[in-house]
Amino acid sequence: MRNLKISFFRFIMGLKRPSKQKNIRSLNKQGELLSSFKFREAAPEDIPALANLHARTWQETYWTALSPPSSETRRYQWQQQFKVTDGSWFCYVVENKNKELVGFAKGQTYNHPDLPEFSGELNKIYLLRKYQRIGLGRKLLGHVARRFLLQGITNMVLFGTPENPSSKFHDAMNGEKLLAKNDEFHGGYCWRDLQKLADICPVD
Ligand SMILES: CC(C)(COP(=O)(O)OP(=O)(O)OC[C@H]1O[C@@H](n2cnc3c(N)ncnc32)[C@H](O)[C@@H]1OP(=O)(O)O)[C@@H](O)C(=O)NCCC(=O)NCCS
Repeated sequence: MRNLKISFFRFIMGLKRPSKQKNIRSLNKQGELLSSFKFREAAPEDIPALANLHARTWQETYWTALSPPSSETRRYQWQQQFKVTDGSWFCYVVENKNKELVGFAKGQTYNHPDLPEFSGELNKIYLLRKYQRIGLGRKLLGHVARRFLLQGITNMVLFGTPENPSSKFHDAMNGEKLLAKNDEFHGGYCWRDLQKLADICPVD
């Protein structure tokens, strides 16, 4: 019954997924290439654009949510986040050729007694729908993996929802499903060797 419910919601969430072909066509029309996107670490000046992007991508992903967090809420959250300057987190953004932000990923250190062997967490990874399925997610993940490795962090976890069709991306990136004691899957993934992840996610 639980699995049926998850499959149903995954189907619903997937109804608005973009097709790879459609997004490649629209990219070509805009005269953009995968290589023309810039990946860089976010700075406080990015907060307004990052907050808008966060609100928009969340809404596009969880499009059935009745009251998604607003840009104002996201702005407050990012303002608070940027006040933390102890090196415990980072955020990479993806910029298109018009210098608009189209995606981001946030990593943070992880320290939890339930999973003591892990020390990094991919806390968020989102791209605008129109920029999905063209390889940007793989590159973003490559930046996250390399950034963690630079900090001496060699593994990471991610906590998603089992209904999210993006789990196909995590599977394709060789993420290992984290199972509960009763073997149920609740949307969590782990990567035990970030060097191996970096190897399948080139950034150049
Ligand atoms: C998850 C996400 C970041 C992935 O980024 P992306 O740019 O779309 O993924 P890529 O194009 O780099 O995909 C790499 C590979 O993953 C797999 N993949 C990605 N999305 C997939 C999907 N929806 N269905 C099947 N396979 C998928 C494919 O194997 C793909 O390789 P291919 O295109 O050569 O076949 C992006 O789709 C996204 O922002 N989704 C919405 C937000 C979200 O759900 N975030 C995760 C929260 S936990």
